[in-house]
Amino acid sequence: MKSTSLCCLVVLLTTGVAHSAEAETAEGLAFFESKIRPVLIRECYGCHSEQTGNARGGLTLDTQQRLLIGGTTGPGIVPGNLAESGLWRAITYQDIEMPPQGR
Ligand code: HEC
Repeated sequence: MKSTSLCCLVVLLTTGVAHSAEAETAEGLAFFESKIRPVLIRECYGCHSEQTGNARGGLTLDTQQRLLIGGTTGPGIVPGNLAESGLWRAITYQDIEMPPQGR
């Protein structure tokens, strides 16, 4: 279940970056709220959310604005640029590895 959800997140990030204009459609929003945010809440918010009061690495994942700003080492998401997107590098275990306890 966990790997399936993370897989969806990867798909969303990839397609979301490739078609950023579509990301703001109602359909995209519904997909994000039903498939993606629950994964972020379960796997990431414990350490990266204003709701839990934790901003490890200076990063919170609650809002689009905060995702774009990112944390101490750079932006969380750079539209159209996966290599610069910390969130992508983290979930694909590149220079950042998140969630820390397992892919
Ligand atoms: C158990 C706590 C914990 C969880 C859960 C966690 N993180 Fe992190 N995260 C950290 C810490 C601590 C850092 C600071 C860098 C480090 O020590 O590795 C960090 C840093 C980051 C960074 C780099 C921020 C920066 O600019 O330095 C990203 C991106 C990130 N996390 C994404 C995620 C994502 C996405 C998830 C969920 C899939 C997640 N994290 C889950 C603790 C956590």
